[in-house]
Amino acid sequence: MTKNSFAIVIGGTGMLERVCHFLAEEGYDVYVVHRNKNKFQAMQGRCLFPHKLYSISVDYHDEAALQKKIQEAIQLKGGYPDLIVSWIHNSAPHALPTILKVVKERKKPWKLIHVQGSSSFFVKENTTVPDNCEYRRVYLGFVLENRNSRWLTHEEIASGVIKVIKHDYRETVIGTLKPWSKRPS
Ligand SMILES: NC(=O)c1ccc[n+]([C@@H]2O[C@H](COP(=O)([O-])OP(=O)(O)OC[C@H]3O[C@@H](n4cnc5c(N)ncnc54)[C@H](OP(=O)(O)O)[C@@H]3O)[C@@H](O)[C@H]2O)c1
Repeated sequence: MTKNSFAIVIGGTGMLERVCHFLAEEGYDVYVVHRNKNKFQAMQGRCLFPHKLYSISVDYHDEAALQKKIQEAIQLKGGYPDLIVSWIHNSAPHALPTILKVVKERKKPWKLIHVQGSSSFFVKENTTVPDNCEYRRVYLGFVLENRNSRWLTHEEIASGVIKVIKHDYRETVIGTLKPWSKRPS
């Protein structure tokens, strides 16, 4: 990471807020994809380095708008991202490929942290990434507590993703996915 490193975090105003703050503290300029500007401003207000957070306000289901906004961010920053953290709902299967199409022009290696929900673990879908992309996959599991189970908290999800960034783990499950029959309803 260099002083002017560039990260894009898709879905960074929700459970990945602390990941955005961590990256800003690490010196990244963090471009956050979201729709709700008030939520973005609130998370920016909670950051120690608010000037390191930039808004990309767009509905990622709108591929043309998403492509344009990512191109604008690249132009503003003056280069391609070093890191992308992606949390995209399954309702937008074309959003990540749209972003990858834009950033594939980058010549130097870069990293994609692909955060996926529990059910994706059993589908094992193949994400096609550019050759110079170092692909890291994170599955969100659940927590078994005594005889019960619960979904992960924001804190657990953000801490898990930060650990993946720090230690460069290739494939991680935050919490557990087994036994699947014990997942929370
Ligand atoms: N296995 C698990 O334990 C597990 C797995 C998944 C989720 N969860 C929990 O479930 C809760 C709900 O999940 P969530 O996905 O709503 O999480 P979230 O991360 O809290 O919110 C979604 C994020 O994606 C952005 N976003 C959503 N739709 C978008 C769109 N169409 N275009 C652009 N940005 C969009 C949101 O911004 P805007 O609001 O501005 O659109 C926000 O930043 C989470 O709080 C999490 O704790 C748990």
